[in-house]
This record gives sequence, structure tokens and C-alpha cells, in this order.
Amino acid sequence: MKLRTLGRSGLNVSEMGLGCWQLGDDFGPVDDQRAQAVLATADQVGINFWDTADVYGAGLSEQRLGQHIASNPGDRIIASKVGRDGALYPDGYTKEKVQRNIEGTVKRLGVEALDLIQLHCVPTEVLKDGDMLAWMEDFQQAGLIKHFGVSVETMDEALFAVKHPKLTSIQTIFNVFRQDHINQLFPQAEANQVGIIVRLPLASGVLSGKFTSNQQFATSDHRNYNKDGAAFSVGETFSGVPFEQAVALADELKALCPEGYSLAQMSLRWLLDQPAVSSVICGASRAEQVRENASVSDLAPLSRELHDQLSSFYFDKVKSLIRGVM
Ligand SMILES: NC(=O)c1ccc[n+]([C@@H]2O[C@H](COP(=O)([O-])OP(=O)(O)OC[C@H]3O[C@@H](n4cnc5c(N)ncnc54)[C@H](OP(=O)(O)O)[C@@H]3O)[C@@H](O)[C@H]2O)c1
Repeated sequence: MKLRTLGRSGLNVSEMGLGCWQLGDDFGPVDDQRAQAVLATADQVGINFWDTADVYGAGLSEQRLGQHIASNPGDRIIASKVGRDGALYPDGYTKEKVQRNIEGTVKRLGVEALDLIQLHCVPTEVLKDGDMLAWMEDFQQAGLIKHFGVSVETMDEALFAVKHPKLTSIQTIFNVFRQDHINQLFPQAEANQVGIIVRLPLASGVLSGKFTSNQQFATSDHRNYNKDGAAFSVGETFSGVPFEQAVALADELKALCPEGYSLAQMSLRWLLDQPAVSSVICGASRAEQVRENASVSDLAPLSRELHDQLSSFYFDKVKSLIRGVM
């Protein structure tokens, strides 16, 4: 597993990371045994960068990480998030409450200080008024956190955050179905040494090519209840592309896969081929997914010709379908 430096933090993160939203049961139920197998496999394949949040399963994801860390000590870099808890979101943010929530995360994870805290898609006006970012600097000085970043919904938020002189990273939706960052954000992120953490690398799994248009998702799975943005941002689940169209587009992409590459591997390799990307935090609900996703670090980059084809695919067929503010 190759490592990349996360912004100016000096942290060396595995280029394939692990998204742990699944371990909060928000992609359907995942029992303890399966959750621990996902984490153990991540260790085995050299994934040292794990992303979670206090709200994933109302703390369950962090608790499971904490249990694993306690019984398997090692050098990992853990990122969590703050800002979507019901006591804070959308307009209840105070420094004391945010600090209490981060302290809760630190306790559940069983770490001394959190490697990276990210503002968790807080409302644009809250991000831009700057108080929360100033509190993060205070928490950093106090030793509660080591580094801070933001997780954002829109390009406007990313372009605001990228200018912050102390920001370590921006977590953003970037994938074959969402490519604008290459021209709009990455030059500035690289110039300002801000790391890019890629979420939804498989557009909630659809870019693995395994779904059919009549796919059924569990009741507790956001791909069921937020398919069309009923619970949170419509741009999040399936990367904002209506599900049936996303499935058809993924099926079309299969014809472009280089020999020996699955669609998931091509989609993930496309991300790693972008030098601005620090880590791709692909979510996994099964150990074998972790293994397949980690394998991409050792695959050859895609050809220039294929990059051009995937770019045309996005601009000609996908971009106009994306819902919500990008
Ligand atoms: N607002 C935010 O800050 C925010 C929002 C969303 C996500 N995130 C973070 O980003 C991470 C990644 O995003 P995501 O999990 O939403 O989307 P994703 O990584 O694009 O999709 C994950 C899903 O793809 C499927 N999958 C993964 N690897 C596979 C493989 N090799 N073959 C077949 N299917 C595969 C699994 O679906 P099945 O479970 O159906 O098998 C898995 O649950 C999350 O875990 C979370 O840590 C943050």
C-alpha cells in the first residue's frame, strides 16, 4: 500500500483509506463480527487511514473502531467529524458543545488526541462565519486534536475552505460521476498544500457495477431512504445521480474497463491517478471489498486515452443529471 502526505500535516496516509459509515449500520445492518473483519482486513492490507463520524450509527462506528484499536494497537491515522449531531445542526453550534462532542469521539475511539477532526458538512453560513474554524485552532493548541479539516457538500464551500492557512484537508465527493474538482479545486489545493480526502469514490457503490435498476436496499440504508434526498442533501446518495440512470451509466462504463480491472478497480484507479488526491476513503461493508479496493494501489495507472474517454463520458452524459448544488 502506497502512502501519500496529507496536506501540510506531515501525516503519511495510505492512498486507499477506509470509510467507516458502513460500520454505523447506515448501509443496512452490519453485525459486530463483520465489522471487526472489515477493520482487521484493513490492517492486513496496509490501510492506515480510517474515516468515521460521531453520528455514524449514533456513535456505533466510533465505538467499533475503538474496540478494534484497543485490542489491536498500531499506527493508524483516525479522522472523525463533528457538526451533524442533533444538538448542533443546523444552528446550535457553541464552542462548549462542539468541544464536548469531540471529547466524546476521543473517548469512544480510546485515543489520547484525535489525529484529524473535520467539520461535518456544516451549513455554508456556519462554515463561512469562521467561528468553528477558530475553535478548531484553539482545540489544536489545547491538544484535543492534532489537525483539522472540513468535509463539504459544494464547490463553493471547498473554494472557501482551501484558502484557510491552517487547514489540513478537504473531504469532498469526487468520482467518475463528479469530476469538476480537477479544474476547479485541485490546482488551489495543491498550491496551498491542502490534502484531498475523496468520499463516495464509488458513488455509494453504484460505480462497482453490481446494482440492477430494481435493486432493493434495507430500510435502514440511506440508499433506500435518501435515494432522492428525502433525509439529507440530494447530491450525496449516488452522488446526486438518479439511481436508475446511475445504474445504466455504470453498466455502460463496464465496456471501458482495462483487461483484468473490475469497474470498481477502474473507478478507484482513476481517483488515485489524480496527484491532488491524498486518500480515497472507500466505504466497505465486507472484508472482501476492503481487499479488492486496497489492490488498486498496486494497479498500473489508466492510460491517457482512457482518462480522456472518462472525461468525455462525464461531461457528455453525467454532469447534467446531478441533482443539488454541486
Ligand atoms: N458528509 C460526509 O462527510 C460523508 C458523507 C458520505 C460518506 N462519507 C465518508 O466517505 C466514506 C465513503 O463514502 P460512501 O461509503 O458513502 O460511498 P462509497 O465508498 O462510494 O460506496 C461504498 C459502498 O460501495 C460498495 N462497495 C465498496 N467496495 C466495493 C467493491 N470492491 N465491490 C463492490 N461493492 C463495493 C459497498 O456497498 P454494499 O454495502 O451495498 O456492499 C459499500 O457500502 C464513508 O464510509 C464515510 O466514511 C462522509
